[in-house]
Order: sequence, then C-alpha cells, then structure tokens
Amino acid sequence: MCGIVGYVGYRQAAPVLLEGLKQLEYRGYDSYGIATRSNGIFIHKKKGKVSDFIPEEATLPGTCGIGHTRWATHGIPSDINAHPHSDCHDQVAIVHNGIIENYSHLKRELQAKGHIFKSETDTEVIPHILEDLNQGNLLKAMQETVHHLEGSYAILAISGDSDRLIAVKNRSPLVLGIGDHEFFAASDITPLLEYTNRVIYLEDGDIAEISEDGYTIYQDSVLVSRAVHEIEWTPDAVQKGGFPHFMLKEIYEQPEVINRAIHSLSSDTLPRFLCDAKSITVVACGSSYHAGLIFRYLAESSCGIPVRVELGSEFKYCSVPLTDVIIGISQSGETADTLSAIHKGNCNNVQTVAVTNVLNSSITRYSDVTILMQAGPEISVAATKSFTAQLGVLLQVVNLLSGRISDETLSHAGVAIEKVLLLNMEDAVTLCARAQHIFYVGRGPFYPVMMEGALKMKEISYIHAESYAAGEIKHGPFSLLSSETPVVAICLPGPSYAVMLGNLKEMKARGTPIVAIGYGDDTELSELADIVIPLDEEQLYLQIVGATVILQMLSYYTASRLGREIDKPRNLAKSVTVE
Ligand code: F6R
Repeated sequence: MCGIVGYVGYRQAAPVLLEGLKQLEYRGYDSYGIATRSNGIFIHKKKGKVSDFIPEEATLPGTCGIGHTRWATHGIPSDINAHPHSDCHDQVAIVHNGIIENYSHLKRELQAKGHIFKSETDTEVIPHILEDLNQGNLLKAMQETVHHLEGSYAILAISGDSDRLIAVKNRSPLVLGIGDHEFFAASDITPLLEYTNRVIYLEDGDIAEISEDGYTIYQDSVLVSRAVHEIEWTPDAVQKGGFPHFMLKEIYEQPEVINRAIHSLSSDTLPRFLCDAKSITVVACGSSYHAGLIFRYLAESSCGIPVRVELGSEFKYCSVPLTDVIIGISQSGETADTLSAIHKGNCNNVQTVAVTNVLNSSITRYSDVTILMQAGPEISVAATKSFTAQLGVLLQVVNLLSGRISDETLSHAGVAIEKVLLLNMEDAVTLCARAQHIFYVGRGPFYPVMMEGALKMKEISYIHAESYAAGEIKHGPFSLLSSETPVVAICLPGPSYAVMLGNLKEMKARGTPIVAIGYGDDTELSELADIVIPLDEEQLYLQIVGATVILQMLSYYTASRLGREIDKPRNLAKSVTVE
C-alpha cells in the first residue's frame, strides 16, 4: 500500500524519483524518501507528502536511485520510519511495498547478531539481511535474502559500490520501464509514462538486475525472459488538465468512460462459462462492492440468475457451497481482500472473471478471464469514473445475458451523465456542508447507489454519512433524525416511488431537511423536499448512472466548500494491498 520507484540511466536520478513518487502518491502519502548512489549512498526521507517537497531535495547526486511514498502499516508516520531503509553501515538501501510477515522473528535474530535497528518497520530487516549476505554482489545477496522473507513484497535495492538496481516482486505489483540507456521500476506505470511506453510486468518470484546497459531477470536464479508490452496510456492521462482536482477531472470524463466501458464487452468476448452460469458470486471491496450490489439487482431481475455479493474481506469466513462463477471487481486489480476471495474460488475449481481497470494487475493473473473496464488511469483516491465504468461493464453483462436492456438505453448513458454535469448543486452543498451527520436512503437498486454516495461523502468531506435501505430507517436510526441531520434520498418514478414518498413524509415530520433526487416537475416531491435535484430519466439504468454522478458531485463540491484535500483524503490510500 505504498508506492515505489527506481531509476538507473543517464539523468540525475533524484528529480526523476521525486516526480515519479508524485504520480504514485495515491498509493500512500504519509511520508516519502529517496536514496541515490554516487560514491556511496545518499538518503533523504521525511514525514509528509511528496507533493510538498521543495526543489532543494532534488539535489542528491547520482544517476541511480530508489524512492518510496508510504502508507504506514508497521510504525507511525515519521522521518525514521519513512523509506528508504539502510543497513548498519549504509552500504545498501532499499524500498519496499508489502508486508514482511515474519519480520519480528527475523528482527530478533538479527539483533542477537548485533544489528542495530533504527525504525519500527517490518521492512528494515531486509537491508540488515542483505548486509550479512552481500559479498560485493547485490543480486546474489538478494537471491539469498528472499529465502528468509515471508509475506508480500516489491523491493528495490541499490548498493554503494555500483550503479545497479535490483528489483524483486512477490505478491505486490512491480513493473519495469524500458527506455534508451535508461530503465525504470515502479509500482505501476504512471511514473514511467513521461519517459517510455515499453514495459515489462514482473511475475511473482522474479528478481531483476538493472543497469544503464540493460537488464536481466531471474526466477530461482535461472535466467528468464519476459514479454515487453507497449502501453497506450499517455502522459496527459495523469495530468489534471486544467481541473483543480483529479476527482473533478475524472467526474467529467465519465460520459466518454461509460460508453467505452459498455463497448469493452460484446457477445463474442463474453466468457462462455458466464453465459452458462446458474448462479454467480461477486467479490469486491468499497465502491467496487457497491457496483456488485447494483449488478445483483439488475442481473436477478433481468436474467433470473441468483447473485451473491460478498465483501472480499468477509468471503473467507463464508462456508456455504460456492457458486459456478465468481466475478471479482477491482479498479486497481491489487486489493488484497478481493484477491484472496478469488484465490478461494481458484482453490475450489470455480471459474473466475476479473473486472478491472489495470492491465496485467494481480487480479488478471488470479482469474480465468479478464474484462478491462478501460476507464483510463484514476488518480484521485475516491473512485468515480472507475465506478461508472464498472456499472457500464456490468450492465453490458446483464444486457448480453438477458437481451433486456435496449442498446438505445445503453447508448444514452453518456448523454445522461452530460446532463447531470450541468446541474447546479449550490443549495444542496450549502445544506450538506453545515451538517455533521447525513443519512442517505434509497430502495431497490438505489440503496447501493446511496451506499456509494455516502461512502464518497464521508471519505472526502469527513462528514459522517450513513446509508440505509429506506425501509430500515424506522427500525432504529429514526431516533437520530432531527433538524440537524439532513437526509439525501432518491425518489424517482418506478416501483419504489410511492413507498419512498411515504418514508420521506415520516422523516419530514421529524423536522429533517431533505435533499431529494427526483423528477424536476414532481410537485408532490418538491413540496416535501427542501431541495430537489432534478433527474429526468425514465430508464432505471440511466437513473442509476445519473444519480451516481449527482452524488459524486454533491460530495466533491461539499468537500471543496470545506477546503478538504480532495484527491488525497486523510488516512486513505487508493490501492489497499494488505488484508
Ligand atoms: C472509495 C474507493 C474504495 C475502493 C476500494 C476497492 O472511493 O475508492 O472504496 O473502491 O478500496 O478498490 P479496488 O476497486 O481497487 O479493488
């Protein structure tokens, strides 16, 4: 859940590393650091965000180095716990993403041998083991070191004696960038885009030795070759493009994104075993889980296929028999809980499908078939365009399985979002921004839409937002309603309209301010609600997509009004690679 980057070539390494870390900051941002090599090792590391670095920090000498941006797991965010970590004599420096599960045992052994530890991290055992094993050949020392390590790790290491980078991958992502007499290594491709579009996705167990003259990759000390891929993402895709935040840029990309996602799948590419499935389980976390819940409503009503939706983190505790097919949904493709759920399916011979945004991410290797949602890089920590892309893909799955969603409806998705993007959210934002608690309520497929809306609001505005199935609110949460607790509701014509209106009247009777998403000309609703955000779509699918984007905008503008750090909310990281 950290980002790592490495460089070896002809440029000064420090600026390349610091700029690269900025691209990876979504993976963690409580501290950062770099180490370079030039007649010895130079380290600069500190608590704080890499985006706040001052140019003088880019002056470490040398054309070979490594960098890290951290999301703390072992040890508080501090200068000392920041990576890179080095051995007792600063002969080697390393950065690490992942968790060394047996670190306390290793640390005790190393301390008994006289090694002095500076930090509280699990990572620091690695340079100390390397120190013991390094006889002037860092590659060989690393090949022996990994035999001692249990857990997940992407590691980059340098030593003081030569411009050489060692890259190691085991259950944490690591990609190499191939330039002309320069090479890169990083947790994902975003830091490389400015320099090269040629990449190698390392496989678990790979150890690469890289110098400005080339690279070699080993598995169990045997030389292996790995395919070089040409990637299509451009450097522009990871710039804000004039928007104040990536989140807003990504919200505005959605008309195009949803159309692309819908067309990423056709009857020719739909996996055969999915067409034959008698039952499906979806496993996912966070926003991706909410997309799975929406899929359940639509697949069950349109295709008659029973769909179970499980949180990746809870799936291991389920002991009921597994379904024929498991669909894992993960924007990043690296979420540890979702991967472990897919793994459980693999161990039980269940066929698995990955729905992901990241080509060659871990989930693609764990699954029998991959459907790429093609949303383009999502930088803001809060999921927006990847969520609508998931809806696009999953809706197309329902369409292909049932033939019951018209192509016309699907082709209007982008237009429906464009209309929403023109809405003025000022009044609703004013109401929400002064609240300490907000309830989000909906029925049927709008309930998970509200779960997603509440998640978005709480993660970026820090306002406590809680979602309920509207029918449940009478069973307890009613006691919390007051004039201080706004309710955001979806009340659109359809099967739940009348009962929803009744629920809102009950809430209004408790003095609760109501923000309703409904038809603009619904007089009954406008008399009841304090604010109606108009969504004039008739098709359920377009209502779901439209309401989703309205709630994203409500969260974004509320967080912006409160001056929050929108793209990097406190304590969060985009890729949650620990269970
Ligand atoms: C919320 C958000 C998270 C992710 C969750 C799963 O805005 O982004 O809840 O949805 O961490 O991530 P992926 O989809 O990468 O598995």
